[in-house]
Amino acid sequence: MLRKFILMIVVGTLFLSCERDSSKDVTKPDINHKVKMASPRELSAGVSTIFTATSYAYDQNADWVTGKLYDRFLNGDALYDDPRDTSTNPKTGGRGPLFCGTSCGSCHNNSGRTKSSLITDAGTGPGDFSSFLTFIRTPNDQYHRNYGRVLHDHAIYGVKPEGKVHVKYTEEPHTLPDGTKYSLRVPKYWITDFYMEDIDMSQVEMTVRTPLRHVGMGQIMALDLDEIKALEKKQYPEYGISGEINWVNERGKRRVGLTGHKAHHSDLTVELGFLSDMGITSHRYPLEISYGQPQCTEDHGIEISSEDMADVDLYLHCLGVPSRRNINSEMVQYGAKMFRKAKCHLCHVETLHTRPEGATLIDGTNLPWLGGQTIHPYSDFLVHDMGPKLGDDFSQYNASGDEWRTAPLWGGGLQKIVNTHTDYLHDGRARNVFEAIMWHGGEGDVSRQIFANMNANDRQALIAFVNSL
Ligand code: HEC
Ligand code: HEC
Repeated sequence: MLRKFILMIVVGTLFLSCERDSSKDVTKPDINHKVKMASPRELSAGVSTIFTATSYAYDQNADWVTGKLYDRFLNGDALYDDPRDTSTNPKTGGRGPLFCGTSCGSCHNNSGRTKSSLITDAGTGPGDFSSFLTFIRTPNDQYHRNYGRVLHDHAIYGVKPEGKVHVKYTEEPHTLPDGTKYSLRVPKYWITDFYMEDIDMSQVEMTVRTPLRHVGMGQIMALDLDEIKALEKKQYPEYGISGEINWVNERGKRRVGLTGHKAHHSDLTVELGFLSDMGITSHRYPLEISYGQPQCTEDHGIEISSEDMADVDLYLHCLGVPSRRNINSEMVQYGAKMFRKAKCHLCHVETLHTRPEGATLIDGTNLPWLGGQTIHPYSDFLVHDMGPKLGDDFSQYNASGDEWRTAPLWGGGLQKIVNTHTDYLHDGRARNVFEAIMWHGGEGDVSRQIFANMNANDRQALIAFVNSL
């Protein structure tokens, strides 16, 4: 966590009416100082915009996070980052018997997307850590006997991991209309070393997912859902585009799905992440993820407190959203026009709003600063059919195998600085923005074609624009 302010070039003056009482805290700089001086085009998330373009760009609190809120933020940040061991210490222990990562930050390094590594021969598992999550089930949409939703490829000493995931990439050569050659890498996944009965891969439906960046979690939780419902009604038959809300059941209610690659969750999955990804039980999920497996029958009790769970939730909600960069570059400005020309903005929606009251944490704490803001996530938070080549045959609620949530693009251009790689799409198969666009099929096909038919300069400008977000 870094609290360092980077001086920005002043490009305009904007007055925001949302100053809050916490600005009276004299030990902190005027919280909206930079926001006031910034150009509206730079402000990705209103008063939560931060002006940091370093490796901490996804991992810094918004300026309104002060006083007691800031103490809780730091506690949440530590719980998020510090690796869990197998002790019974409620702050640092509880890991296992089965797990996928050792801390939230092991997969979401710097609150971003840790590069996922699957070595074909070795696969995932101990010694070959990978930040992917793999979901498995039978062709009849049931869990496999002795397995659950997630394939846990790590385990504590004396317990067998549930299996190992492998990948083989095949290069698929292509040529653009102007003769430029490029290649897409097509993944094929499989599992070996099942811990109990060997399951034939024909009996396994699986999907492999790369971690999501934690940019704008609070804003997503505060979204004005009427706006999302209105976007669902707005269809573009001339371009074959019609997004859909993924309605999910969470905490016993039907809700608008917002998070996850298929928008298959409505919250920030904090308790589920601790349980399912690290094997840490909470009051919401008191039973170990391995419960019922013959190899680990012990009950370990509650391993993390509800207060700590709420602080991790608070940490994610209070992260700032990095401002846009290079907005005065001619190339970036021209690229913004190309982005619209290619109809990218019909799914990667430029501007949304948060509801007036802001967001409420799992412990009931309200964060009014997240309310009433104009935000630029470059997503409609709807799921779209992206064609069978990108599909995984793994439906989640009403999102079919070929449907994916429009990936929010804000902060995406900083992924290289934060996580040292530019792997994109739900399983990281695209090695850069160009490849990510060329994978767009189905409802994204028109965009891909317009982009492919542009001259090299226009394509380059469009990519420069995407990288400025
Ligand atoms: C083993 C790696 C791994 C660990 C450990 C992990 N995550 Fe994740 N996380 C993922 C992957 C992969 C996804 C995307 C899953 C999907 O949507 O299909 C994800 C998605 C998320 C999302 C949704 C973000 C969005 O923009 O929609 C949140 C929030 C999240 N994780 C929080 C956490 C928290 C909190 C922890 C720690 C308790 C955690 N994660 C631990 C891999 C991990
Ligand atoms: C029909 C809706 C739609 C259109 C139009 C569209 N996209 Fe996407 N975009 C998506 C979806 C859905 C995903 C997520 C796909 C996945 O993860 O497999 C995505 C993913 C991406 C990603 C990867 C982001 C990441 O973090 O992994 C980039 C970059 C991107 N789109 C850029 C563009 C650009 C540039 C255009 C215009 C040329 C465009 N998209 C047009 C729906 C769309």
